[in-house]
Amino acid sequence: MAAAGTSAPDPQPPQQWTVIERGGYRYPPGLSLNLLFYLRRRFFKPSNPILLFQHLAATYGRIAHYKLGWQHIVFINHPEFIREILVNHPQEMIKERTQRRMKILLGEGLITSEGAFHMRQRRIAAPAFHRQRIAAYADVMTERAILRRASWHAGQTIDIGAEMMQLALEVVARTLFNTDVTSDVLAINHEVNVIMDLYHYLISLPLAEAYLYAPLPGLTRFRRARTRLNAVVHRIIADHRNRARVGNTADSGDLLSMLMTSRDEEGGGLMTDDQLRDEIITIFLAGYETVANALTWTWLLLAQNPDAEARFHAELKAVLGGRTPTLDDLPQLRYTEMVFAESMRIYPPAWAMGRQSTADIALGPYRFPAGTYFFFSQYVMQRDPEYFPDPLRFDPERFTPEAKAARPRFAYFPFGGGGRQCIGESFAWMEGVLLLATIAQQWRLRLLPDQQIDVQPKITLRPKYPIHMRVEENSSF
Ligand code: HEM
Repeated sequence: MAAAGTSAPDPQPPQQWTVIERGGYRYPPGLSLNLLFYLRRRFFKPSNPILLFQHLAATYGRIAHYKLGWQHIVFINHPEFIREILVNHPQEMIKERTQRRMKILLGEGLITSEGAFHMRQRRIAAPAFHRQRIAAYADVMTERAILRRASWHAGQTIDIGAEMMQLALEVVARTLFNTDVTSDVLAINHEVNVIMDLYHYLISLPLAEAYLYAPLPGLTRFRRARTRLNAVVHRIIADHRNRARVGNTADSGDLLSMLMTSRDEEGGGLMTDDQLRDEIITIFLAGYETVANALTWTWLLLAQNPDAEARFHAELKAVLGGRTPTLDDLPQLRYTEMVFAESMRIYPPAWAMGRQSTADIALGPYRFPAGTYFFFSQYVMQRDPEYFPDPLRFDPERFTPEAKAARPRFAYFPFGGGGRQCIGESFAWMEGVLLLATIAQQWRLRLLPDQQIDVQPKITLRPKYPIHMRVEENSSF
């Protein structure tokens, strides 16, 4: 699958850079402290921090600086500066504090770990995501989609977000962990919902880690959900060990086997159960929430854009003619991939990212001290009219090879970039295209009228309210 966006020179800076010199450093303009408090009250409601980012981009352009207490914070809305942070300074950047605090849930998994430990874990997990390897997952993905679509009937109303969550969860469990979570799906979904609801509240507390064991009602619910989730994961590990014992083979080839049988370079220890738990829960959550949200938004956008939907159906008819898609069909399902790409532009499942520098960093004419926080938002950058004219219009044509080549690489970065780029990117493109194609060959999903559609930026970009769709036979087949 094509990674979205290829390198192209950036256009000239859209503004004259204004530099404010202070204490030997060079900062761009931004919010004053008092203004910040005002803005925090006005915009930075826990329910939608995107409003603050949009305000910064609209007011200060490509880069803005402000202070929160003694911390320097920089919001970047410039593809070249984003590349600089993600790609050019691997040794001088760590994840920012909100992501570090995800350790409360994810421990030392791939998303939260740093340095040599992270590199080792990434090396172990990488083969499970290689192209040849994920090719074997294609049939499992379509098999799950066929089961899901068979559970619907014409005229039925479905909550598309819930359906896609369950489907994506089953796909990750089957492909990467060789396990069936069908009986646990609803429970896992419920626990993850509880955690997502409470997570932002929890990390907004000063010294969140210290509060974790306080007997506050929200925290009790968070702990209970986390314990239940851990129990499912530990059961998956135990099942795997039992199967390996019975079959007398420790490595059945899936990701979990790789994690369980790998030793560090010195030939030393296997991962402990707690380390395994951290990696499994990380990949589960990273791998299903994101894809499920991307699919949910795609069904919504297709229903709202009948011309694009008709072209999508025409491609499926021409390439597949009603049969189940396979890996070999993927290169022909170009428009389907463009639909998925455009959907992740408008509704990026990972809607913002950040880093903290461990050394002084220069960006264009600016120079920031060690410890500065850098934030950037896929949601804001990918709706920038300079790179995506008429940005709210759903237009898959923005993702032809020519259109992609004409944009700077980091104008579109749903999967991040650099050394910490999403390990599951190829997996996600393949899953997105196969699931859309498999479901659309039987059903057309119509949006029920008078629904409130809004985003809810949690860890991923979820719909704020359930999106109800009516299932209809797809008459084009
Ligand atoms: C549409 C789907 C997806 C989107 C939009 C997405 C987005 C991202 C982004 C933006 C990052 C980088 C975070 C950062 O650098 O701070 C990331 C990292 C990661 N993603 Fe994904 N992801 C998706 C699907 C998946 C899937 C399917 C898996 C696994 C099955 C996965 C596993 C991971 C892991 C383990 C990391 C951490 C990698 C590391 O730091 O080494 N993601 N993802």
